[in-house]
Amino acid sequence: MTPTSTAPAPRPRRAWRAALIVPFLLAMSACAKKAPLTTLEPKGHNAHSIANLINPIFGIAGLVFLFVEGGVLFAAWRFRKRRDDDGSLPEQVHGNIKLELAWTILPALILVGVGGASVLTILDLAQKPKDAMEVTVIGQQWWWEYRYDVNKDGTDDIITANDLVIPAGVPIALNITSRDVIHSFWIPALNGKRDAVPGREAPLNLEADKPGIFRGQCTEFCGLSHGYMRMRVVALDKADFAAWEANQLKGAQDPTSALALEGQQDFRTTCSQCHRVRGPGGNDAEFKGAALVSGAAPDLTHLASRGVFAGSVYDLWIDQNHNGEVDMNELGKQFNVADLKAWLRDPPARVPMYPQGGRGMPNLKLSEQQIDALVAYLQTLE
Ligand code: CUA
Repeated sequence: MTPTSTAPAPRPRRAWRAALIVPFLLAMSACAKKAPLTTLEPKGHNAHSIANLINPIFGIAGLVFLFVEGGVLFAAWRFRKRRDDDGSLPEQVHGNIKLELAWTILPALILVGVGGASVLTILDLAQKPKDAMEVTVIGQQWWWEYRYDVNKDGTDDIITANDLVIPAGVPIALNITSRDVIHSFWIPALNGKRDAVPGREAPLNLEADKPGIFRGQCTEFCGLSHGYMRMRVVALDKADFAAWEANQLKGAQDPTSALALEGQQDFRTTCSQCHRVRGPGGNDAEFKGAALVSGAAPDLTHLASRGVFAGSVYDLWIDQNHNGEVDMNELGKQFNVADLKAWLRDPPARVPMYPQGGRGMPNLKLSEQQIDALVAYLQTLE
């Protein structure tokens, strides 16, 4: 007998094991304890509309799947090749008028139902509510800007970034655009996605049922830090929102501490090319007559009233109640000095950016003294 080099054929049991393990792993990968980007937990009118369409359609599609797959499996088993098979075909149903009418009309009815419900939902989502509050949303590599024209005189009175602050229970009409490439705005708990296209304004309506924080993520590939281009919607009750709005309408005042005053000077000399702080305590004077800031970096007038910075990747305040998100109760408590300092020391090391190509914040080679002073100043911008 000569030794052979052929490997033994895989035993069927191994194939069974793989057939069980692969779907199991796939199912497990869909289970996450904290999944803020789930579309399955709608938290506002528009997201409820989508869920009210998707859930019944998913149910109908599931029934169709079970019916068709069940039929296929039953036929394969019932008419399988047997040992005493004489090769003759089972009885054919071709030409059975009743059956053929049934499986033409039933799917057509299902499609008409699904199509009609879809059109109604699309019309509902596109309908801009009469009493909606309008906010302009501008996507940019790699953060989001929000502008509010509170008195509707054509100029934006509130300019902020990263946190889109809205009153809960009030319909919000967004006008979404972009300053550079195509991005896509998506807060899954509140509505579907909408592309942010340069030179266009795309409408999207949102509403949050209750106060809360809703996470989002840019969903159109937009370059190096697309995956780090996140956003939050912070929905406040009416009183908190009114207080937030009143505060945002104010300009920045001069800081009082010596260190923060030093930081204000550093800000005016070092950061003014890109960032703007409005009000007497800011750097408006730096731009007298000249073109205002590039418009390519976040307005920092009320930086410290936000929960996050750097494209919503880092918390600006310490999450002291450990609910996973910096919320309004934490603002003014404990500043996240460590991450902000690390950011100022070398921004492209914290979020991948391409400053030599004008995309993102460069490393300004600040001294530790400048960083301490800037952090003290930025913290006063509440
Ligand atoms: Cu912005 Cu992807």
